[in-house]
Amino acid sequence: MTAKSNPVSARAGIAGLGFYVPQRVLSNRDLEKMVETSDEWIRTRTGIVERHIAGQGEGTSDLSAEAARRALADARMKAEDIDLIIAATTTPDMPLPSCACFIQEKIGAKNAAAFDLGAACAGFVYALVAAEQFVKTGFYRNVLVIGADVISSFIDWTDRSTCVLFGDGAGAAILTPAGSGGILSSVLGSDGHYTDLLKISAGGSKMPASPETVTHKDHYLKMSGSEVFKLAVRGMAEAVNEALEKAGVKKEEVKCLIPHQANQRIIDAVVERMGFPKEKVFVNLQKYGNTSSASCAIALCEAVQEGKIKKKDKIVLATFGSGLVWGAMVMEW
Ligand code: COA
Repeated sequence: MTAKSNPVSARAGIAGLGFYVPQRVLSNRDLEKMVETSDEWIRTRTGIVERHIAGQGEGTSDLSAEAARRALADARMKAEDIDLIIAATTTPDMPLPSCACFIQEKIGAKNAAAFDLGAACAGFVYALVAAEQFVKTGFYRNVLVIGADVISSFIDWTDRSTCVLFGDGAGAAILTPAGSGGILSSVLGSDGHYTDLLKISAGGSKMPASPETVTHKDHYLKMSGSEVFKLAVRGMAEAVNEALEKAGVKKEEVKCLIPHQANQRIIDAVVERMGFPKEKVFVNLQKYGNTSSASCAIALCEAVQEGKIKKKDKIVLATFGSGLVWGAMVMEW
């Protein structure tokens, strides 16, 4: 697909949203039977009650395609209308081709260009910002942005410090030129000094798969939980404040804050640090756990479906993840 010449647009906005989580539910009680943990520990330390886990052979592109179909229906668009697909994921179906190409084929978006973007749990906001540039310059008109991960494939199900935290899912948004409202400001950041805190060491070019990497469980996610916790609180609070300032929006004007759904205690600490009212914060992590790149996308979609966000409302997205990376976005709905 080559670039069309569309008019330059002042702003880009979301024309449709959709999300999908796999059928299988894994509860805290189920985890009690797998590792030495308890429903009480998981609830009090994280707020998570259950999460959805992909079935055998169900990949990130499968979840993404269903989320995309729902977003297309919400936007009343056909797959052929999509000019570009950006799939934010760190768990593509395979190293190549890109997850975005599999999604393209599954939904029949035959006129689209397609690529993946890797920014871990901040992926959805990173991808929205990338899509916004294509839309605002007129390079593309309708961009399908997906945040999706099947992180369960990279979890060591004998490691209680990580396996209780994550779940699988996909969220999709269609970004188009906005008649009114749309993206008012965004902030992206990263600090590669902290690459060791949350990583999957093997399976890439530096440490390809070998019998040793399998024996040492190097294909699984490893994390320094408490350090990530502290940096997440600071990173998200600062990014939100900066994005609000950039947009000229006061925090009192914000109707809904959609934070990355990693841990209730991280969210509580962020809003306390910002002096933001708790009742304006949307939380659904109790149902899904941390779905990585999908987290903010699913939360945004559910908040809209539940009527928490209405036309003209000012909302803020806040994300944080492995890298370390972070991103915040202020929008008018
Ligand atoms: N069940 C029961 N006990 C567990 C456990 C589990 N699932 N996981 C860890 N523990 C134990 C630890 O072994 C430790 O025991 P010890 O004191 O005997 O050594 C104890 O609980 C406390 O561990 P600690 O790591 O201090 O707990 P915490 O309060 O920091 O909570 C996390 C741990 C992982 C929930 C928390 O650090 C966190 O959420 N970090 C951020 C993770 C995250 O969201 N990452 C993704 C960002 S995108």
